[in-house]
Amino acid sequence: MGANAIGIALLTLLCLGQAHGDHHSPNGVGGAMKEKKKCDYSQGRWVYSSSYPLYKSSDCPFLEPEFDCQKNGRPDKLYLKLRWQPTSCNLPSFNGIDFLRRNRGKRIMFVGDSLSLNQWQSLTCMLHTAVPKAAYSLRTWQGLSTFKFPAYNVSLMLWRDALLVDLVKKNGTRVLKLDSINSVKPWKGMDILIFNSWHWWLHSGRQQPWDVIQYRRNTYKDMNRLIAYKLAMTTWGRWIDSNIDSSKTQVFFQGISPDHSSGSDWNEPKATCRGQTRAVQGTKYPGGSNPAQVVVEQVLSQMSKPVYLLDVTSLSQLRKDGHPSIYGYGGKRGNDCSHWCLPGVPDTWNQLLYASLIHKI
Ligand SMILES: *[C@@H]1O[C@H](CO)[C@@H](O)[C@H](O)[C@H]1NC(C)=O
Ligand SMILES: *[C@@H]1O[C@H](CO)[C@@H](O)[C@H](O)[C@H]1NC(C)=O
Repeated sequence: MGANAIGIALLTLLCLGQAHGDHHSPNGVGGAMKEKKKCDYSQGRWVYSSSYPLYKSSDCPFLEPEFDCQKNGRPDKLYLKLRWQPTSCNLPSFNGIDFLRRNRGKRIMFVGDSLSLNQWQSLTCMLHTAVPKAAYSLRTWQGLSTFKFPAYNVSLMLWRDALLVDLVKKNGTRVLKLDSINSVKPWKGMDILIFNSWHWWLHSGRQQPWDVIQYRRNTYKDMNRLIAYKLAMTTWGRWIDSNIDSSKTQVFFQGISPDHSSGSDWNEPKATCRGQTRAVQGTKYPGGSNPAQVVVEQVLSQMSKPVYLLDVTSLSQLRKDGHPSIYGYGGKRGNDCSHWCLPGVPDTWNQLLYASLIHKI
């Protein structure tokens, strides 16, 4: 079967899945969780709050320079003062000491690309600010970073793994295997796992980390990236279903973090995130839903193990002002419209994480 034929077959599947998935809650996935769900945090708007931001970047000595927009010279500050207000309820305020106490003895791991790094850094800053006198350690070794609070025996880890499925070198060719997760993954044995993957599926040219794509017995030079993503996510879902013990490990999916490189998404065709100082007003993003988010919802709804979707997409879509733009690497690396300044939007993702942990979803 050629790339096109498989493309068409799978596109049909995607569309069927979409119709079929409509009755699933966009937020909690899986029957038991749906009953318990208190509120849909994914819909709402951004409001001014004098008590924001939740921490100062200068209080967070381990913050990566690429996220420290104020230090890199960003002149505006309104983006620091926005609080997410869900439409039909309130998001619990973040209590770092409570977070640490609840998770005593636990190992929490973020798995994914640099958006995982973004959220992990946000969480370690939020927690360090809550217990500024508590000792911490931070070690990075190869793809694994571990941040520990010894007094609470809590480990917050980050495992860099942008594609989740196997990427192997065969005879000098980098093969992306959409149907296989066989390489050693340090995910097992964690208490809480928070996965994320998407942005790297869009890379092409020199940024593309593979040469060919393999699925079942077939090898493709390229294919529709959304389809490749769906196949890989399905493989990941099967891996979770057969390897995770839900009584020991809670699994989250971080959700799709939107970028703002194209102003036509918010009716400013010539704009990018650069120079944006205000969030989109109101509850609706003009750019509509994110196709990768639809894939994530479909895959999660077909899994047997519970996975909680943090559902950061809509709330982050409204934050065209939240990216580093030219204040990411001190202006040295162009216009970053996909990562987020810290403090900033990922702090809210961690509030969603906290809310779901205290509600024991
Ligand atoms: C810390 O937590 C680990 C599990 O992550 C556990 O094995 C260990 O016994 C704990 N240590 C202390 C001192 O409580
Ligand atoms: C490996 O690559 C070489 C050179 O392209 C080729 O001659 C050889 O047949 C390849 N081996 C396998 C096992 O594909």
